[in-house]
Amino acid sequence: MLQPATSQLESSATFVTSHANLQWKLIMNLQRLLNIDIPLIQAPMAGVQLHGLAAAVCNAGGLGSLPCAMLDAAGLRKELTALSEKTSKPYNLNFFCHTPPAPQPQQESIWREALGPYYAELDIDPASIASGPGRQPFSAEMADLLDEFRPAVVSFHFGLPSPELLGRVKACGAKVLGSATTVAEALWLEAHGADVIGAQGLEAGGHRGMFLTDEITSQLGTFALLPQIVAAVSLPVVAAGGIADAQGVRAAMSLGAAGVQIGTAYLCCPEASTSAIHRAALHSPAAQHTALTNLFSGRPARGIVNRVMRELGPISAATPSFPLATAAIAPLRAKAESQGSGDFSPLWAGQNASGCKSMAAALLTAELACGFIQ
Ligand SMILES: Cc1cc2nc3c(=O)[nH]c(=O)nc-3n(C[C@H](O)[C@H](O)[C@H](O)COP(=O)(O)O)c2cc1C
Repeated sequence: MLQPATSQLESSATFVTSHANLQWKLIMNLQRLLNIDIPLIQAPMAGVQLHGLAAAVCNAGGLGSLPCAMLDAAGLRKELTALSEKTSKPYNLNFFCHTPPAPQPQQESIWREALGPYYAELDIDPASIASGPGRQPFSAEMADLLDEFRPAVVSFHFGLPSPELLGRVKACGAKVLGSATTVAEALWLEAHGADVIGAQGLEAGGHRGMFLTDEITSQLGTFALLPQIVAAVSLPVVAAGGIADAQGVRAAMSLGAAGVQIGTAYLCCPEASTSAIHRAALHSPAAQHTALTNLFSGRPARGIVNRVMRELGPISAATPSFPLATAAIAPLRAKAESQGSGDFSPLWAGQNASGCKSMAAALLTAELACGFIQ
């Protein structure tokens, strides 16, 4: 049998030790930077959680996140007040920063026409449906609240806000996490003022954070994306997408991550507001079939394949731009859900729903944190 020379063995051992040290330093850096005990971020998940889940994860030593994309300023104030009452630990506020499109009346009518048979089936009068944006980007009004509540971390999906607004975020003392889905996006975020890069692999549930490209072929799985981003930037990189247990955490850390961001695994915790229909889908064999779809908002997002995704898409040319597609499909969702059906619901989920357990978020956080023990 081929035996490596003693000197080779020694140099491998030195390499392994120094690699372990390097990884430990990365973890420590992120813990210090974000002022957290465990370098685990509970992914912000608009529509399925508010302050309850965020507070539980913060109190367990991770970084809990409050998704703000579907809140107006009054709603955000209410949530921040409740969150501050439930935890004194650092937390993350998450905003979208897309450019809202101009109204698209022609595309809107194409979209409503595509949904027409479903309106008829569910007895919904299309004339009664208001059009509206659904999700708002980060604004000066939201920045005023940051001055008041001083979150430790602010994360952004779909790029970063204007330099002026970003300056306000930094001035309130928050560290900024930007979500990258390609190496080019990670480099852009580093050059434009992010403190931490989130590497969002293709397995991830919810919206793709992509902002420099709309080509789905550019989107890589976590295993391919993470090491390439780690090699390209000098900022700490947090891995997201498909991480569902301590083994997954360990795998991400061994690929150079400084921490992890986990969403899907938290969806069935009692502190999340995930609907009963969504929870049932996550616990059923249907959860093994996810796809990127633009039907619910106009932008690609990963969810469990349901009837409307099978029949119209999952990617359709009929939808108006993000986030305008939401208004026309929302009444179908509401009506179907009132009848116990998820046929028209965005059942957001990542490719790995195996970690979805109906257990307290603090316990789940502790289980996942075992992945940091070497
Ligand atoms: C239900 C759901 C809603 C999400 N909403 C948001 C959001 O509001 N903002 C955001 O930045 N990311 C959102 N994401 C994406 C997460 O930040 C993260 O990238 C993803 O959950 C990680 O992959 P995993 O779901 O496989 O753990 C959402 C994900 C899910 C599953």
